[in-house]
Amino acid sequence: TLLDAGAKPLAGKKVIVTSGPTHEPIDPVRYLANRSSGKQGHAIATALARLGADVRLVSGPVAIPDPAGVDTIHVERAQDMREAVEQFLPADAAVFVAAVADWRMADSAGEKIKKIAGKGPPLLQMVENPDILATVGHHEKRPRLVIGFAAETQNLVANAEAKLKKKGADIIVANDVSHDSGIGAGGVMGGERNRVRIVSHKGIEEWPEMSKDEVAARLASLIAERLGG
Ligand code: CTP
Ligand code: CA
Repeated sequence: TLLDAGAKPLAGKKVIVTSGPTHEPIDPVRYLANRSSGKQGHAIATALARLGADVRLVSGPVAIPDPAGVDTIHVERAQDMREAVEQFLPADAAVFVAAVADWRMADSAGEKIKKIAGKGPPLLQMVENPDILATVGHHEKRPRLVIGFAAETQNLVANAEAKLKKKGADIIVANDVSHDSGIGAGGVMGGERNRVRIVSHKGIEEWPEMSKDEVAARLASLIAERLGG
């Protein structure tokens, strides 16, 4: 249920949101990234602020403006995103929308990697990044409500349920990012629309396809309900 315009059910509640991709440096001029635009995460930060929440947005590199009325901090790497999020704790709720790069370079080069005749392309050695959602889901300062997203191209619900458990989340918002998900040109990542399922310990709720702003408004209402009850 959507709340009346002007209602501020999240007044006095602090909510952390992550959004956008992360950039993992390879050398001073190159990085590893992904297709996240930050649209869904920024829309959620905006929707939470509209309901009166004190929102702390930790954003990776995006091409969209900081949401009005939201305290926004910009980071590049997953490690910086985790640090910023942990510094914002304690909070009443946290919503992890960022498409965090799963891996970073084992050592990023201090100087630009040069082509050297006869040597061939560099072998990029990677290591796993910290899981920010799982860190906060199991944190001593864990927010009362921890929400993650699950970007999947197959086995959407099973994968979302596994992430719910493993990461210590209360809700996973599962979205199908496959190219044949039926959502217009370009798909979910970078696009304007989304179709999600709300996976929680209470079961699965299917939301119809709608704009990312509408998903954000409904999720903000759900957060208000969960924190209010
Ligand atoms: N997430 C995170 N830190 C990471 C990786 C993911 O905080 N290093 C969060 C995302 O913001 C999202 C959720 O975890 O809320 C699920 O991200 P996703 O990429 O779908 O899951 P992974 O655990 O990375 O698994 P995989 O990419 O292999 O499906
Ligand atoms: Ca991932």
